[in-house]
Amino acid sequence: MTPVDAAFATTGTEDPAASALFAPVRLGDLALANRIVMAPMTRGRAGPGDVPGDLVALHYAQRASAGLIVTEGVQPTAEGKGYWRTPGIWNEAQQAGWALVADAVHAAGGRIVMQLMHCGRVVVPANRGYAADVVAPSALACPDLVPGPDGTPQPCAMPRALAASELPGIVAEYAEAARRARAAGIDGVELHAASGYLINQFLNPASNRRDDDYGGSPERRARFPLEVLAAMADAVGPGRVGVRISPGNPYNGMAADDPEANFAPFLHGVEQLGLAYVHVVDMALPGFDILAWLRRHGRRPLIANNNLDRSSAAAAIASGRADAVSFGRAFIANPDLPARLAARAPLARPDRRGFYVGEDRGYTDYPVMQP
Ligand SMILES: Cc1cc2nc3c(=O)[nH]c(=O)nc-3n(C[C@H](O)[C@H](O)[C@H](O)COP(=O)(O)O)c2cc1C
Repeated sequence: MTPVDAAFATTGTEDPAASALFAPVRLGDLALANRIVMAPMTRGRAGPGDVPGDLVALHYAQRASAGLIVTEGVQPTAEGKGYWRTPGIWNEAQQAGWALVADAVHAAGGRIVMQLMHCGRVVVPANRGYAADVVAPSALACPDLVPGPDGTPQPCAMPRALAASELPGIVAEYAEAARRARAAGIDGVELHAASGYLINQFLNPASNRRDDDYGGSPERRARFPLEVLAAMADAVGPGRVGVRISPGNPYNGMAADDPEANFAPFLHGVEQLGLAYVHVVDMALPGFDILAWLRRHGRRPLIANNNLDRSSAAAAIASGRADAVSFGRAFIANPDLPARLAARAPLARPDRRGFYVGEDRGYTDYPVMQP
């Protein structure tokens, strides 16, 4: 066999989808065994004190054949919690809980990064179990409803606008959360800058009406988000920091128009920081090809997400539009999703009733494929 034949023999099979999805890839300092990423999913299974326990560790370990797991959104500070039973990473007990998770995933051969999610104004206070301020760039309430402790949708609290003097403290909290994640053995961190939470609230003109250095233009609205990313990169190294965006997503009261103008300065800053990856929820906006736009505007590795199936995911990678792909709902019901994709096996459907509430049911009881 010539060297050229040998190269084809290792990457080529009769199934182009398999070779695209299963080629290893590096995202910054993260070496992935395949390109199938588990998307971040809030599941409301943290224990008392917002500590993830054995159940959470088992859930992620069951899914360790993903090239990379992105955890559910994790609050970097008490004020960052908005939903029922979401885990934190701001004290010793929570850090110890995440060490259980990291160990379980690594023992099963996987890689895992933690999504840092500060909800900002998207808060139902009864979900917290403690008193803490509800904070946002401006004193404008989120127009969407959020499930309360019993699952019934409720209005969000009116936030107070953060003073500019408070922002360095929140930047430091994100950096400390990133350090704690690494100290727990988690492989990296992903900043949640999508879906209308705190970072997105700063980026978006509908929720950021500030007239200081942190609002008023796309450049100034990107300032706090970039300060957070720079601090996280300083804390754990840029090669272990990713960022998730969803330009054009109206969720949680975001203005969906003009995503290019609103995100360009932010992405310019992301590029300069040399982060591990950009994770994009592709909203399939008419006339706006977000993946092509991101490729034109930067060289960061891209993880594509949203409504992908085996063939669209493989096509995104084979065409070079993305470096990896993430699946959300498919990973809920198919803990062995990579094996099923490799085998072209049918996928199980997830039961929505267990998405955000419950214990093991609908969480750790989905079986692997039968031989
Ligand atoms: C139950 C559930 C919880 C989710 N929680 C989060 C979250 O915490 N952070 C986030 O960035 N996206 C979250 N998402 C969005 C998913 O990461 C993903 O973008 C979405 O499910 C679309 O991907 P899919 O079509 O492969 O399911 C959640 C989705 C679901 C279904």
